[in-house]
Formats: sequence, C-alpha cells, structure tokens
Amino acid sequence: MKTVRTVAELRAELAEPRRAGRRIGLVPTMGSFHEGHLSLMRRAREDCSVVVVSLFVNPTQFGPGEDLDTYPRDEARDAALAEAEGVDLLFAPPTSEVYPEGFDVVVRVRGLSGVLCGAPDRRGPDHFDGVTTVVAKLFNMVAPDVAYFGQKDAQQSVVIGRMVRDLDIPVRIEVCPTVRESDGLAMSSRNAYLSDEERRRALALHGALEAADAVVARGERDASVVLAAARAEFDSSDVEPEYLELRSATDLAPVEQVNGSTVLAVAARVGRTRLIDNKVLGETP
Ligand code: PAJ
Repeated sequence: MKTVRTVAELRAELAEPRRAGRRIGLVPTMGSFHEGHLSLMRRAREDCSVVVVSLFVNPTQFGPGEDLDTYPRDEARDAALAEAEGVDLLFAPPTSEVYPEGFDVVVRVRGLSGVLCGAPDRRGPDHFDGVTTVVAKLFNMVAPDVAYFGQKDAQQSVVIGRMVRDLDIPVRIEVCPTVRESDGLAMSSRNAYLSDEERRRALALHGALEAADAVVARGERDASVVLAAARAEFDSSDVEPEYLELRSATDLAPVEQVNGSTVLAVAARVGRTRLIDNKVLGETP
C-alpha cells in the first residue's frame, strides 16, 4: 500500500489503472478505523481492482464547540489496518491540499441537509455542507467508479446520493450495513470518548431501535405506535434522545405509516458524546 498526500501524486498513481479500464473504488473516511470502516474497505476490495481510502479529518463539517481538536487521530495505526485489508492507496492530504488559500465554494443539498442532524437547533445544515463539499472534491480528485458509505450515517448517505444525482457525478454509491459491537452498539470513532458508565447507557439507542423493530415485526404499521415503543425504551433508561424520527429511507420524508423502506433515526447525547444510530424497520434480516 502506498500513502500519497497530494492530488497530483494521487492522479499519477491512478492514471495507468484508469487507462487500463480497471474499476476504481473509493472509501472516504476521517480515520480512527474500526470494523465499520474496515467492512467498507473489504467490500471495495471484493468489487474493485483498485481500492483508494481517503483519510482526512475534514474541518468544515465540524461546528464551533464540536470535537475537531480532540477527534482521534492515529495515521500509522490506520495505515497498517488499511494495508491489512489490501487497500492499494491511502490518500491522506494536509488541510492546505484540500482547502487552498482563498477556497470559496460550498456544495449544498438544500432540503435534506436541514432535517434530522442538520436541523438548525442540532448540528445545523453547515455540517452537511462540509460533508458534501469535501466528498464532491474527493470524487473529483479520485474519479472513482464506485464509492462506499455506511448505513450508520443514513442521512449522510442519502444526502450524498442526492448530490451525485443532481450534479450528474459519474460514480455509483454503495451503502453498506452498520457494523455493531456484540451488544448492539453501532461502531463509531466517537465511542472512544465514552466512560464505562456511558458505554452502558449508550445501549439505549440500539435498544430503542430493536423495540420499534419488534413492534413492526408483529404487524404494527402506525408510526406513532412504533415511535411510542422506541420512546418507552428511552424512558426506562437515563438517556434523552435529541431526536427519534421515522422517515423514508430513500428521501427522508416524514412518514405516518411504516413500510419496508422506513428508517427509524435516533441521536442522543451520552455525557458529552453525541451518538447516532438508525434502523430500516420491517426488513427481513
Ligand atoms: P467517518 O465517520 O470516518 O466514516 C467513514 C465511513 O464509514 C462513512 O461512510 C460511515 O458511514 C462509515 N461508518 C462509520 N461507522 C460505521 C459502522 N459502524 N458500520 C458501517 N459503516 C460505518 O463519515 C465520515 O467519516 C465523513 O463524514 C466523510 C464521509 C469521510 C466526509 O468527511
């Protein structure tokens, strides 16, 4: 595996395989790899002949007071893990390579960026502006045939899918299943912030999703009843959700009735750590 830091080096490395018509896969990340990230790399390795992983803690998607400065960073460890998954190229640019002096563009997916995590009283739409802008740039830098994202960040995957469609970016988006710890907690780089006590409380998110899914599996379709089942799980825990919403998994529109593509999305602060999770309800596993 080779590590490159500039767009020029990246393009030089990809020129020959691109000419040869080899399929290029991209896994965008902010590093601090866990099994969720590694599952995306494995999937890319199966599908593509060249696998590129980008590692860039993107400052523009962090709001004031968020964890940009404390976000876990360990490039040497990440490089070893990526190498073990058979990744061909690790693109780890400095901030100046991504945002040169005078950088002045924003890519915004308007409606979808302003709901759930992007609501004004939560992270706000600027968060997703940061994500779409950097991902659009990564797509232009790498020009992958396929890019891999996790269902863990369901809204992010939908927002990026809409950006690609509306801007005619020639890349196929693959959304891969959420990887969980054995007790159900969705893997996240931010889980490293949790104390033992918070780690235990954090199970409320998965518990609420499972409770809702169980109600749907019994045939319930009314959104308010399904939400009440999830809410009851939170009520018996000491975690207060920031939001708990049923939406269409394809366009995030609010729903009154649960069908096979309804996602239950949740965010909650556990101590100082903000966690998110989601589950598509009524799916056959
Ligand atoms: P990051 O949080 O590092 O996540 C990189 C990718 O891994 C995302 O597609 C995310 O959905 C996926 N992922 C995270 N946890 C996962 C889990 N438990 N199971 C499956 N996939 C998981 O998301 C970002 O970085 C950034 O916003 C980025 C897209 C790189 C833009 O900066």
